[in-house]
Amino acid sequence: MTDFTKLRITTDYLIIGSGLAGLTAALEASKHGSVLVVTKGKAEECNTRYAQGGIACVIDSDDTFDAHVKDTLKAGAGLCHEDVVREIVRSAPARIHDLEGYGMKFTRRGEVRETTTSDQAREFDLGREGGHSARRILHAGDITGREVSDVLIARCRENPNITILENHLAVDLITCRHFAWKGPNRCYGAYVMDTQTHDIKTILSHFTLLATGGAGKVYLCTCNPDVACGDGIAMAWRASAEIANMEFYQFHPTILFHPKAKSFLISEAVRGEGAILKIRRHGKFVEFMQNYHELKSLAPRDIVARAIDNELKRTGEECAWLDITHKSEEFLRKRFPNIFNECLKFGINMAKDYIPVVPAAHYCCGGVRTDVNGVTNIKDLYAIGECGCTGLHGANRLASNSLLEAMVVGYNAVIHSLTASRSENIVPPADVPDWKHGDAVNSDEMIVITHNWDEIRRFMWDYVGIVRSNKRLERAKNRIRMLRLEIEKYYWDFTVTPDLIELRNLASVAEMIIDSAIARPESIGLHYNLDCPKYDGSYHPKDTIIQRPLKPNIWFE
Ligand code: FAD
Ligand code: SIN
Repeated sequence: MTDFTKLRITTDYLIIGSGLAGLTAALEASKHGSVLVVTKGKAEECNTRYAQGGIACVIDSDDTFDAHVKDTLKAGAGLCHEDVVREIVRSAPARIHDLEGYGMKFTRRGEVRETTTSDQAREFDLGREGGHSARRILHAGDITGREVSDVLIARCRENPNITILENHLAVDLITCRHFAWKGPNRCYGAYVMDTQTHDIKTILSHFTLLATGGAGKVYLCTCNPDVACGDGIAMAWRASAEIANMEFYQFHPTILFHPKAKSFLISEAVRGEGAILKIRRHGKFVEFMQNYHELKSLAPRDIVARAIDNELKRTGEECAWLDITHKSEEFLRKRFPNIFNECLKFGINMAKDYIPVVPAAHYCCGGVRTDVNGVTNIKDLYAIGECGCTGLHGANRLASNSLLEAMVVGYNAVIHSLTASRSENIVPPADVPDWKHGDAVNSDEMIVITHNWDEIRRFMWDYVGIVRSNKRLERAKNRIRMLRLEIEKYYWDFTVTPDLIELRNLASVAEMIIDSAIARPESIGLHYNLDCPKYDGSYHPKDTIIQRPLKPNIWFE
């Protein structure tokens, strides 16, 4: 039995993150070896848990894989990798079948709608969301993520080959940059901090899977939980992984606007059931989406978020409004129990009142560049789920394709690892050094962390948000350059703490988003720059790749 309180631990699979991607991989990997999942808070705390709309999957006999592929490519605005899209879409039914095998229960039609036969009542209830040409979203009411997360955590906890270490924050991947190694860049595991003792453990693994999710905290307004700081992307970048398409940050159009609501999402599925977006003009509520797209309130997310942003700027209003008052309270309570109750807490009855909404940062379409198996350019390192960039989403993710990708790529990565050779270029574990830090002392200026944290999130929102310009990006670049230097110095001068580690990662991710946005020559999908020509479809746009030069044996840089 491995003693997980030790400072040096060895495992077959190290999985960093306990969302859908990480836990799907853990359950599959447990069939082939020992699995250690490290997660920085409670296992439940992840983006997955907050997912409402559901998982896109072709199930209905009237729907086709081709239609799902076409919708994904259209939303992705010309930048998706079509082979990846096809494979992920085709793999969906098999992975949904696995999830059901683990105990996941998706809502059936009879639970929410009138049906005429018992067969119809037993069919999956399929939701509709922006950019989808058919109803194809499997869901568990409006708490799909919570149900998925609970089921997978329960299966992992009862599995003797899987250990979940909570309150363990990965600080850095162990690669040849930590010792004098001349071979190809390879990952040997990670340095991981026990956030309760602040000990930093050396965890050695045959395969390391980054499943650290997104980076919504880089923006002032986000519906992501506090864990979403882009840690995995920043760690991979420091290890010289290729990072792709970071300019494409998705803003969800409809986050509940209320001073006491902490970033609560009003699912796109509400618009899928007919909710209409309105704006208040001269005291009257008017529809506006017909001026922006033929699908009106159900247009792809980038278009809806930009339209709301524009209407707010034009009218000076603080929020837009969602009107679903034409549906009965009985239906809304059954179909959206969580959203209904949450709105009610703030005095909003969805069946009678309009819901105040604003856009907020939601999903990172870029990330560590991989293929459809999560394979990165670093040997034995995989990136799966939101922290990876397979090419599925292109310049804009189609709704409910993210949970799908997390499941498919999480599973694929493990299958791929079975074909990878373990003996090639292995450094004896004894040669891997333990964590080192400079002559660190405790900081007496914690204000530096909180100030820089707030400053980054504010200027990212103002200058690198829904609508960008060359001037705004240049301003953001100047600020991040200065802050990154300050944070790096602070990092090496003082004892590391979880806050400082997250701040350092957040600053790196902010810089990657800014650099990628500056490098992008056209306005396309989620990247909308007033000074760039709009992509017209006449050529193949390129992915934006960022990579840090590889330097063996360099710790302090
Ligand atoms: P996550 O679920 O975010 O898990 C990441 C894990 O990594 C967490 O456990 C975190 O604690 C851990 N971690 C991070 N850094 C470290 C570190 N340094 N050390 C250790 N652990 C670390 N997508 C859909 O397809 N359908 C939806 O309906 C939908 N609704 C959404 C609603 C909301 C409010 C949000 C925020 C997102 C939604 N999404 C939806 C997006 C989707 O939920 C996420 O993209 C997806 O869950 C990501 O899964 P993941 O496993 O990659 O990451
Ligand atoms: C939502 O329910 O609106 C979110 C769906 C998604 O992000 O895919």
